[in-house]
Amino acid sequence: MAGLVSGCGDRPPAAGAPFMPVADIRLLMNAVLDPAADVIWGSVGTIVTAEKTEELEPRTDEEWTAVRNAAVVVTEAGNLLMLEGRAKDSADWMTFARAQVEIGARAVKAAEARDKAGIFQVGADIYNVCSGCHQQYVPQMRDARPQ
Ligand code: HEC
Repeated sequence: MAGLVSGCGDRPPAAGAPFMPVADIRLLMNAVLDPAADVIWGSVGTIVTAEKTEELEPRTDEEWTAVRNAAVVVTEAGNLLMLEGRAKDSADWMTFARAQVEIGARAVKAAEARDKAGIFQVGADIYNVCSGCHQQYVPQMRDARPQ
């Protein structure tokens, strides 16, 4: 065992890491990913009603921090989707999960820069990753956000 660790420089062998995925994919979606994505999608935009037009945007430090935190959750949840026991294959599944990590990282940066337009754009990109994976692996699901 000691030999295994010492032979690998500063990267511990992933195969030996004591991962213990607890949530199945559905629970991970409902408990982790969906609420975090909702924070991002709900943070910036325009709400038009008969009476008025309202611009949504984070205004306080706390609100921007909440968007940043949600972006971190979306990002790292992409990594959680890749864990053995969750990943459905080692090809397209990984591509979608990796794309989620990369787009999520852009969302983190946009939130840190307080870039409203950036959050709006990256929100659309997040949506496309969610629906892309769902279309392929859960074709019966019609929307990334079932009602
Ligand atoms: C790598 C693939 C993948 C990505 C990326 C992905 N999902 Fe999913 N998602 C799934 C799978 C597979 C299911 C079906 C799980 C099941 O019912 O067993 C699912 C189901 C869901 C569900 C339905 C859960 C239920 O109760 O039926 C929601 C909501 C959801 N995903 C939200 C999201 C959101 C939001 C994103 C993007 C931020 C996202 N997903 C990204 C694979 C993915």
